Amino acid sequence: MLHQQNLTVNAAGHLAVGGVDTLDLAREYGTPLYVLDEDMVRERMGLYVAAMREHMPAGSRPYYASKALCCKALCRMARDEGMGLDVVSAGELYTALAAGFDPADICFHGNAKTEAEIGYAIESGVGLIAADGEEELLRIDTLAGALGVRQRVLLRVTPGIDPHTFAAVNTGVLDVKFGEPIPTGRALAVTERALGLGNIDLAGFHCHIGSQIFEAGPFLLEADVMTAFLAQVREKTGYTAGILNLGGGFAAAYEESDTAPDCAGMIRAVGERLAAKWAEYGYPAPVVLMEPGRGIVAAAGITLYTVQNVKHAPGGACYVALDGGMGDNPRYALYGARHSALVADRAGEEQSRAVTLAGRCCESGDLLGENVALQRPRTGDTVAVLTTGAYTYSMASNYNRAPRPPMAAVRGGRARLIVRRETAEDVAAYDL
Ligand code: LLP
Repeated sequence: MLHQQNLTVNAAGHLAVGGVDTLDLAREYGTPLYVLDEDMVRERMGLYVAAMREHMPAGSRPYYASKALCCKALCRMARDEGMGLDVVSAGELYTALAAGFDPADICFHGNAKTEAEIGYAIESGVGLIAADGEEELLRIDTLAGALGVRQRVLLRVTPGIDPHTFAAVNTGVLDVKFGEPIPTGRALAVTERALGLGNIDLAGFHCHIGSQIFEAGPFLLEADVMTAFLAQVREKTGYTAGILNLGGGFAAAYEESDTAPDCAGMIRAVGERLAAKWAEYGYPAPVVLMEPGRGIVAAAGITLYTVQNVKHAPGGACYVALDGGMGDNPRYALYGARHSALVADRAGEEQSRAVTLAGRCCESGDLLGENVALQRPRTGDTVAVLTTGAYTYSMASNYNRAPRPPMAAVRGGRARLIVRRETAEDVAAYDL
């Protein structure tokens, strides 16, 4: 059950994260509570930085995809560990800058950036803007011109790869809202357009093939398609790209049956494939960027809840009602995404029950999981839902006017708060 290396059962039989008793955390900070193992986050960041440094051309490095979990403390961790930062909104950019992140190390993304956001990014001096397509390139060009700046830009292109079948040029995956498609020739045409714009410095290309990828295969296919595209662009236009951004997508092991991917091994395989392709095309190897989000934070996070009641429905299901739910983690309600869980008070006991974890929102779809293996639950128990570091806090809402939970970070066996608990006053603060 404890498939995450940072989780243990202590002498009292309680679940501990990074050596800290989760019942102590629940008592000190209340529930629901996000808990992040900061040692693990930093270790994961270091692993990606080191692997890219070792296996990719000089200057290559990972940019933490802050959409997975964005707060000032996370931005500072990414900065300390030598990562760049991927932001997708004025809000994420603001958070990064407020945390002291160097704008030169930030790449600004998004498929529907507003004029105000583009202006904010340019004025802030972000190192890169990933332009989603032709219209946006023109917009960036105009705004940069008005601000008297020459903005470095990546063009986002769509390689047409289904990461879960490892198939290339599947038209289904070209029918997406992101980027300009390579297979139809659009990406090349838009590149030609970009090269003619006076206030844009085309630094290279960006692509992202998906999320929750367990093996190197899809990334190798991505490397094949992208290197062929870069070679084609050079042949047609004479332009040589300085940066190739391959996006994010490294998987996390959510359930015991999942095997955590070997990220360093995947990065080595991609580096080797790229090197072989550059040699084949006689192309000067560009700097490679990648954007891991989930792979850094998912396994480092758990969420603690208090059981409010336990009910046995006539159909046989056992409902364990928690003091949180889709408001703090919408992943099961949205995607049917499964998370493991356990009763933190008796973490070492057998998980003999299959329960439905019910949230507190007024709708029946507010569940955190069905058929979840759990120790026998009792009202007042602390339940830990695992692998919640990515896309939970960052996707949380105030539905039913529930204040969003705080987040505690555990480092060196000690805990501190990195996001405080919202209050009812916070939630009502904008009401006029
Ligand atoms: N770069 C780009 C351009 C992306 O769109 C994404 C994720 C990433 C990087 C980071 O991908 P990661 O390494 O985290 O897989 N809310 C969903 C996940 C949505 C991912 C969207 N884009 C979930 O809860 O599973």
